[in-house]
Amino acid sequence: MKFSTITTAIVSSAIAVSSTPIHKREIGGVLLCTGANATGTCNYSVYALDTCHQLAAPFHHNTSTFAPDGEAFECFPRIGDCGSICTSPTGCTFGSVDFDYANKFNLGAIQWNTLISSFDCSRKTTTASS
Ligand SMILES: *[C@@H]1O[C@H](CO)[C@@H](O)[C@H](O)[C@H]1NC(C)=O
Ligand SMILES: *[C@@H]1O[C@H](CO)[C@@H](O)[C@H](O)[C@H]1NC(C)=O
Ligand SMILES: *[C@@H]1O[C@H](CO)[C@@H](O)[C@H](O)[C@H]1NC(C)=O
Repeated sequence: MKFSTITTAIVSSAIAVSSTPIHKREIGGVLLCTGANATGTCNYSVYALDTCHQLAAPFHHNTSTFAPDGEAFECFPRIGDCGSICTSPTGCTFGSVDFDYANKFNLGAIQWNTLISSFDCSRKTTTASS
């Protein structure tokens, strides 16, 4: 039958597509570079969420590129080292950095390239309660 021939062709092509390996990226990937526009010394890692990550040399106070991946998470660069006490109501950060953040390839635009000491990332919440 003509119909069953078409159905067989559709099913076999669907099998061919689904046999392609699918790699789901882990959430929390951030590219750090000492220079702007991903120049200088760079390090890409996937960072655990809701944990403070201390920057060491050469990145401590020396990070101009801070570029999170495109998944639904955001990061907060901090002036203080992990474990330091922050008394600022703004949390000693300039705010959230995500994939769409304008200065992610040039923190120097807001003078944070020489301030950043540590950072933490968290999943974005779609509801107001978190
Ligand atoms: C980064 O690259 C953009 C686009 O090429 C350029 O306009 C900008 O000046 C560069 N920024 C720095 C700090 O080099
Ligand atoms: C990159 O950063 C990760 C996490 O901080 C660290 O474990 C790793 O050693 C770094 N790699 C290099 C080449 O600096
Ligand atoms: C900043 O990073 C660059 C490139 O890795 C390095 O040459 C320089 O010594 C670093 N500066 C500081 C203050 O760590």
